Amino acid sequence: MSADPNGLRKYDDILEEDNHLPNWWLAILFGSMLFAFGYWLAFHTTDTFQSPPEVYRADVDALKKSRALANPTSEEALSALVQNADAVTEGQNVFKTTCASCHGQNAEGLVGPNLTDKFWIHGASGKDVLKSIADGYADKGMPAWGAVIGDDKARKVTAYVLSLKGKNLPGKEPQGQPID
Ligand code: HEC
Repeated sequence: MSADPNGLRKYDDILEEDNHLPNWWLAILFGSMLFAFGYWLAFHTTDTFQSPPEVYRADVDALKKSRALANPTSEEALSALVQNADAVTEGQNVFKTTCASCHGQNAEGLVGPNLTDKFWIHGASGKDVLKSIADGYADKGMPAWGAVIGDDKARKVTAYVLSLKGKNLPGKEPQGQPID
């Protein structure tokens, strides 16, 4: 390395100028650093901003949920109905007048199975229970109630039956498979 009278330095026989970096270049450099820091702060340390994939996933989930809820016989809609105290009470009234003669006043079982234990012959999901109620098992002594009480009451009495989960009232002996 040797100095040249014009202030140029020579490295490996190449004369190099030692100019300041242009301001537009520095502006882009520091600008992108600032932007990156701001971006990291906004997207990775707070919940206020969501990245596009997160927004997309949240939108898809919301859409799936609203579609499922719009279908009154979906699993989601039936479990939402269990949270609706009025619907469950209405279902309980239907149960007392229509079902208690075979399943007992509190669904503990009589001729029909105990609906408060965890044993199920035909499945324990909302859809299973609704199907049992609506279509029945005529050959086993469970009438089809769908056409008799209508869709609305069938769903509400399903919500009532689902609300009994975990009650385990002493009554008819377990029938079917245990479902937790
Ligand atoms: C005439 C008697 C009778 C009446 C009334 C009756 N059920 Fe049943 N129910 C039965 C019998 C018997 C079974 C068992 C069917 C089998 O063994 O497959 C049954 C099965 C069921 C099941 C399926 C249980 C399981 O373990 O999978 C549900 C749910 C049910 N009934 C709900 C109702 C509801 C709700 C009503 C009123 C709307 C009702 N039942 C009215 C006799 C009756």
